[in-house]
Amino acid sequence: SAALHVAIAGLGTVGAGTLRVLSDQATLIARRAGRPVVVTAVSARDRTRDRGVDLSAYTWFDDPVAMARDSGADVIVELIGGAEGAARQVVEAALDAGRHVVTANKALLAHHGTELAARAERAGVGLLYEAAVAGGIPIIKALREGLAANEIRSVQGILNGTCNYILTTMRETGRDFESVLSEAQALGYAEADPTFDIDGIDAAHKLALLVSLAFGAPVDLAAVSVQGIRHVSALDIRFAGELGYRIKLLASGERLGDGIDARVAPVMVPLDAPLAHVEGVYNAVVTEGDIVGRSVFQGRGAGAGPTASAVVADLVDLARGHQVPVLGVPVEGLTQAGTAATPGS
Ligand code: NDP
Ligand code: HSE
Repeated sequence: SAALHVAIAGLGTVGAGTLRVLSDQATLIARRAGRPVVVTAVSARDRTRDRGVDLSAYTWFDDPVAMARDSGADVIVELIGGAEGAARQVVEAALDAGRHVVTANKALLAHHGTELAARAERAGVGLLYEAAVAGGIPIIKALREGLAANEIRSVQGILNGTCNYILTTMRETGRDFESVLSEAQALGYAEADPTFDIDGIDAAHKLALLVSLAFGAPVDLAAVSVQGIRHVSALDIRFAGELGYRIKLLASGERLGDGIDARVAPVMVPLDAPLAHVEGVYNAVVTEGDIVGRSVFQGRGAGAGPTASAVVADLVDLARGHQVPVLGVPVEGLTQAGTAATPGS
C-alpha cells in the first residue's frame, strides 16, 4: 500500500542516526509496518555540513516550520531539541496542519506536553515520543500498552545516560569529571547544553513524562524536586564503593495518597540492588504494578543508534495506523498533579 511519507527536522546525532536506520533497515521496516516508510524532506541549520549520510534524495528546507507546514509529509519528526524556539514552532505547525508528530524532545514535552497533547487530539493526529525517555528502552510503549491492566504504584530509574556514563567512568578509571563529560559529549550522549544532564534537569523532564503516563496526571515539571551530580566527587564515588554502594542519579516517582512524590537525586545504591549494576550509557526503569508486580527494563539510554531505534518504532506504529492517546488516562482519586517533594523526606 501507499508509503508513509516522513519529513525530518534536525539532522544531528539523532536525526542523522534516524536517516541511517530508515535506509539500512528499509526492507525489514516496510515488512513490519505493512508499507514502506520513506523520507521525503529534511531540514537543519547548515546545508553544507557533512553529516555522513547522503541527503540528495530529499527535499531540503532551510526553514523547518515551512517544512512542517508545506512539505506534504504524513509525519514530521522533530529532532532539533529545546523547549522553545524552532522545535516548539515545528511541532505546533505540524499538529495544526494535521500531520502526525514524532519527537525525542523531552524538554518540549515536559514544559508543553499537556497543551500539545490537546492540540494533537483536536487535530486527530498522533504525537509519539518513545525516544524522549530512556533512549532505546521502549518504556513509553511498555507503560501505555504492556502494563495497561495495572495501577502503577511507582516508577524509578536511571534516566540520564550522560550522568551514568560519567559516574561509571570516573569510578572505573579515576578520571576527572570534566574530561569524562567531554567524552560523553563527543559520543553524542549529552544535551546541546550539558548542564541539563549534570544538573538533573534532563532526568526531571523524563520523570515528569513517566509520572504523567504512569499515574494519569498532567505533566508537571514544577513538582519534581531536582538535584544533579555536579557536586559528586571522585572521593565520594570511591568511599561509596568501599562501603558497598554505587552512586547513581536516580529518578523516582511514587503515588502517595492522592498526590505524587517525584524527585531526581544522586543516591547511594547498595550493590545487591539491580540498579547498582546498570553502568555506562545504560538506563534502567523499574515499575511496580498492582497486578504484575515489579518489572525491570534496561538498555542504552542515549546515542545515535539506540535513540533512532525508538524514533523508528514510533514511525512503524504510525504506518500501521496505530493511534494512541498522548498522555496517561487520569486515575480516579488522584486530585493533585504533583506534590513538591522535600529533599531528604
Ligand atoms: P544535535 O545538537 O546533535 O542536533 C540538533 C539538530 O537540529 C542539528 O542538525 C541542527 O542543525 C538542527 N537545528 C538546530 N536549530 C535549528 C533550527 N533553528 N532550524 C533547523 N534545524 C535546527 O542534537 P541531538 O540529535 O543530540 O538531539 C536532538 C533531540 O533528541 C533533542 O531533543 C535531544 O534532547 C533528543 N535526544 C537526544 C539523544 C541523544 O542521545 N543525543 C537521546 C534522546 C533524545 P545543524 O546540524 O545544521 O547545526
Ligand atoms: N542527554 C541525554 C542523556 C540523551 O544523556 O540521557 C538521552 O535522552
